[in-house]
Amino acid sequence: MDQGKSVILGLGSYVPENIVDNQALSKKVDTSDEWIRSRTGIKERRFARADESTSDLALVAAQKAIQESGISNDLIDLVIVATITPDMAFPSTACQLQHKLGLGKVASFDLEAACSGFLYALDVADAMLASGRYQNALVVGAEKMSSIMDWEDRTTCVLFGDGAGAAVLSQKGEGPSLIGFRCGSDGANPSLLYQPAGGSRSPASAETIENREHYLQMNGREIFKSAVRVMEMATRELLKDHGIGPYEVDHYIPHQANVRIVESLANRLEVPLEKFFCNLEKHGNTSAASIPLALDEAFRAGIFKPGQLGLLVAFGAGLTWSATLVRF
Ligand code: UT7
Repeated sequence: MDQGKSVILGLGSYVPENIVDNQALSKKVDTSDEWIRSRTGIKERRFARADESTSDLALVAAQKAIQESGISNDLIDLVIVATITPDMAFPSTACQLQHKLGLGKVASFDLEAACSGFLYALDVADAMLASGRYQNALVVGAEKMSSIMDWEDRTTCVLFGDGAGAAVLSQKGEGPSLIGFRCGSDGANPSLLYQPAGGSRSPASAETIENREHYLQMNGREIFKSAVRVMEMATRELLKDHGIGPYEVDHYIPHQANVRIVESLANRLEVPLEKFFCNLEKHGNTSAASIPLALDEAFRAGIFKPGQLGLLVAFGAGLTWSATLVRF
């Protein structure tokens, strides 16, 4: 049994100030507010300034989470940042964040599982805390998706946004408990959603730039179908481990990619859509930041009552998928 013991001591999130609505996008690319809303549910998103990097977004979210946790910076001994848009290929964004927060010289590393990254990071942090070798973990999902969006590809550039969300986890203290985890992957078709160049397989060159291969590329229809399938699978497997039926979960916090994906998932699980928290209309798809951003907003809106069950579920490039069960 994958029972965890970690509790969430504090949550925090941050989105950049610059709001870009669908109308504004339609002046930049051949699209319309009607198309974006009806196909995705997205109305607006935030984009970071040119001089703001992923670690800057992570910093504000982390500061809020640490403040809410009530523990001091010097007690944090583990930093994990889930991201596909790191400040640079290396060193890690987690190291940048460790320094910007003025933490001790603690273990810090990035985790790359695309949009499932934050839930993967919760699983990893929980296991590291359970080992007894770490006491308090800062887990962040942060993305500057605008840095890898292709403004010549209307099928992708209307979907994403920038933001960050953070959680402080500990095995001691009061807060929502993480009681179960399920992560999976299938690397058979990486090109369904990927950034083709800039890695060791295709290092940056004049040709890769010419071919726009440093931007995100996606087969939207195939990703849509896979997303619904793997999120249903991860949910059912995790709930089965705990002897819980889908209807017994009080709140679902799904990855915020497309409201139609959420509707299909709700249908397949035979759970009313009202149980699914959605804020994608305001933020678009913020990849690894999507779940912690939604979790923080839902938490602040007071929708979780003590004792209720929550299920966080995500899918992403890889493909990867992950589900986490929370007792509030
Ligand atoms: O975190 C994981 C990230 N990815 C996702 O979650 C994406 C999953 N996929 C999706 O959300 C949907 O597949 C999309 C929103 C990307 C696309 O929706 P769709 O209903 O699958 O549309 P489509 O790709 O089948 O395209 C329908 C039409 C096409 O025109 P034709 O061929 O029917 O004439 C597209 O060229 O819509 C056209 N189109 C657009 N029109 C206006 C594609 N993008 C746009 C656009 N504005 N931005």
